[in-house]
Amino acid sequence: MLPETILQYLKVYYAILTANNRFSNDGQCPLSLSVGGDAALDAVLEWIRPEVSRLVGFDLAPTYSYSRQYAKDEVLTRHRDRPSCEISVTASIQIPKGAGPSVLHLKPPNSEETKVEMLEGDGCVYAGTEIEHWRERFSVDGYIQLFLHFIERRGPNYPRLMFDGRECLGARYPDGKPHTMDHDAVNAMLLKEFLKERRTVQELKKEIAALTESMKKQGSKIEKVGDQLELAKSPQQIVLNSQ
Ligand SMILES: [Fe+2]
Repeated sequence: MLPETILQYLKVYYAILTANNRFSNDGQCPLSLSVGGDAALDAVLEWIRPEVSRLVGFDLAPTYSYSRQYAKDEVLTRHRDRPSCEISVTASIQIPKGAGPSVLHLKPPNSEETKVEMLEGDGCVYAGTEIEHWRERFSVDGYIQLFLHFIERRGPNYPRLMFDGRECLGARYPDGKPHTMDHDAVNAMLLKEFLKERRTVQELKKEIAALTESMKKQGSKIEKVGDQLELAKSPQQIVLNSQ
């Protein structure tokens, strides 16, 4: 998918990014290093846009580029992407020496799981918001992958998500880098956690109420026993007092 000259240029560019510590960690793949919305990589996004539009059969608008150097033992868990990734390209930039192809697993709706094996320069175009995708545990360091994300120019997310909410391509994100997870999925997860916590609080309240009730009963029993003891020692006291 990437011509040899672009691929070679990108390898040099990635080495410069690495030398300048431009990669950082993200929550989706915390062991690996990534960079999002970089101006030169956004330029690849814009450069390849007409070709990807031709492949999918409709006009695309650019959202953002993202790149990751996968670390050994990293796993990309099965997920769907957020709305800025209606149409995505994942391209293999670098494969560690002697390692096998870069493998992406996909599960389209109403269809069997499949996998795509990429050599350097190969790319896979997929509907990131509809197709579940994941990567199995990496056995070595250093697979570099470039992701290029688009929305449909006549679709519901245009123009709201063009440039992924930024002023223009290459613009820095307010919080440093783009979000890698689907906001709806994050919200659903947070809601689930909140409901779980609320259930726990309700159960604890019931337990406290039951314990309070039980303590009240115990208290009244102790009072009764106290009264009985008082009654039992009273005649003795009367005798003693009269001596
Ligand atoms: Fe994804």
